[in-house]
Amino acid sequence: MSLILGIDIGGSGIKGAPVDTQTGKLTAERWRIPTPEGAKAHDVAEVVHELVKHFNHSGPVGVTFPGVVQHGVTLSAANVDKGWIGLDADDLFTKATGQQVTLLNDADAAGLAEARFGSGKGEVGMALLLTFGTGIGSALLYGGVLVPNTELGHLWLEVNKAATEAEAWASDRIREQEDLGWKSWAKRASKYLQHVEMLFSPDLFIIGGGISKKADKWQPHVDCKTKLVTATLQNDAGIVGAALYASER
Ligand code: BGC
Repeated sequence: MSLILGIDIGGSGIKGAPVDTQTGKLTAERWRIPTPEGAKAHDVAEVVHELVKHFNHSGPVGVTFPGVVQHGVTLSAANVDKGWIGLDADDLFTKATGQQVTLLNDADAAGLAEARFGSGKGEVGMALLLTFGTGIGSALLYGGVLVPNTELGHLWLEVNKAATEAEAWASDRIREQEDLGWKSWAKRASKYLQHVEMLFSPDLFIIGGGISKKADKWQPHVDCKTKLVTATLQNDAGIVGAALYASER
């Protein structure tokens, strides 16, 4: 059994658990620590260290980040402190924890986990996982192989003759902020999905993030050609994907 600690950095909480990367199962109960105010890099690194200590873990650690991660360097910060931009976060976390840390984008982690153990299992063509939460995250997988950092939540759509960023119009956060009914939100999501469909012709959409738990509310109202399924690993997808990624480095 290969045990790796997976940690998922989110806007409100930082969650971790040891993962058996052969089965994708958590081997202990998840532990969650609230995300420090402002989500500054050094404060987050401290929490990651706390989680490593909580599980008394030694060995590789996989960590997700809600932005672009290229070779361990965080290159964007749409919903977190701007100090992350250009930071070697991999190195910061490795030093803070004394363990080998590998970082990847949060949606990419969820995509890897779903492709290996969840709704994308067995898909030989192109699967696009889209997470609708605070932002919109994306993971592009072909035959289970990840093409990282697609950032499709930042595509622009034409809304009422004006260019509008998809994430600022169709995320779950916007649904809540604008108090949209499920049907209205599904109409927005459909427009977005149809645009992504036109650009990528995927074989499968996997919908993750907060809304995946409420699929009965919106799924009947979604209109797109591509087969659409909801993510099955839900809250654990980031943790499992981060551990998987670290195990394969
Ligand atoms: C970020 C992505 C992230 C997504 C979900 C977007 O704002 O740019 O990198 O995957 O939010 O957290």
